[in-house]
Amino acid sequence: METSIATLNQKSVNTPSVSETQVIGLFGFGTVGRGLYHVLEQSPTTKARIKRVCIKNSEKERDLPQSLFTTDAQSLLADEEINLIVELIDNATDAYHIVKSALLAGKSVVSGNKTMLAHHLEELIALQQETGAALLYDASACGSIPVIRNLEEYYDNDLLLSIKGILNGSTNYILSRIFTDGQNYSDALKRAQELGFAESNPSFDVEGLDALYKLIILTVHGFGTYVHPQQAFNYGISNLGQPDIRYAREKGLKLKLVATLAKLNKERFTLFVMPTFVKPDEYIYNVEEEYNGVVIEGAFYEKQFMFGKGAGGFPTGSAVLSDITARFHDYRYEYKKRSYFSPLAYTTNVLVEVYLRYTSPVDLDLFGFTEISEKYSSREYSWVIGKLRLSSLISIKELLPKLNVFLAFTGNVEPNGTGGNNE
Ligand code: HSE
Repeated sequence: METSIATLNQKSVNTPSVSETQVIGLFGFGTVGRGLYHVLEQSPTTKARIKRVCIKNSEKERDLPQSLFTTDAQSLLADEEINLIVELIDNATDAYHIVKSALLAGKSVVSGNKTMLAHHLEELIALQQETGAALLYDASACGSIPVIRNLEEYYDNDLLLSIKGILNGSTNYILSRIFTDGQNYSDALKRAQELGFAESNPSFDVEGLDALYKLIILTVHGFGTYVHPQQAFNYGISNLGQPDIRYAREKGLKLKLVATLAKLNKERFTLFVMPTFVKPDEYIYNVEEEYNGVVIEGAFYEKQFMFGKGAGGFPTGSAVLSDITARFHDYRYEYKKRSYFSPLAYTTNVLVEVYLRYTSPVDLDLFGFTEISEKYSSREYSWVIGKLRLSSLISIKELLPKLNVFLAFTGNVEPNGTGGNNE
């Protein structure tokens, strides 16, 4: 795919008009792009047609007319008949340039690229306001579950207290295979790749980055605040071992990769992604396979639960279709929490309670526990349950996956004293 599209970067302030038919320029024909094509075919009342598809590799065999495909990105962006760009490519840098160029050319965009959005959302929000073009991306978080639009439209007040969710289908699938069938980690990961759930680089899934990117997007729509991924903590399941599985089973718990967003007080919230012990009475306890589940908690309404397929071509393709039809009705995100509220401030000055399995006391010392409530030691390994500051975890975030340890959140988080700096 050609990415030299700088010539299209001249500013345009055309307000895009909503025409009778949406003529789509599609970028990417991988799992989700093909899924969208299929879903569109099965949706005859949708007034949308794909005019051209920009792909990277023209040599690949495809069972559609060759004339549909091009490797020339500019030809889509410059085509006046195309009034909607749908961006479903893997490469986040290319995706950023495509989305930016399209918005600057006055074309609205539907994107599913959580990596790109989590890094550039702040700028892309400003670009939408400047150009009048709209960017929709409900497919980027939780596949077929319409969580972004709900946070934007239904939860458009300040009652929201927390969001806790399984946002990554691949890791949930892997954990289901391990806990339910006793399959080993690498076989389960391989299967998730074969089924098209995993990212092209599956470390994004298993290290919790994919879930973090989705959580960052949800945070913008939930609390109005943008948090850069580097400022946030993610830890995944790649170091999960038999002792951790045994520990969870003995306590009657499951381990899930959970994204947590919690309001701490009127001014502050925190967020992180970690393997988390889940109790049988929690809604997400029974979320298995590639399904996602999101629990939204608010003052007065307590908890609400959204559940659905979070990965795979057809579920995600159907979310893209929903954004396409939303654009037909001229829908755009208003970013209400940013427009009408004072967005909450992000803090890492909180105490989180974790389980840490380790072998070397040197590794234990790296964590700076402020309190340890339980300890276990054997010749092979030890574990502790205790509290530590989220900021301490962030300071060793890059090192953590390389250590012979496994970390999991118990579910307890509290503000650390009266402070609350964004450290
Ligand atoms: N790799 C992602 C997942 C795909 O497993 O959830 C959907 O975003």
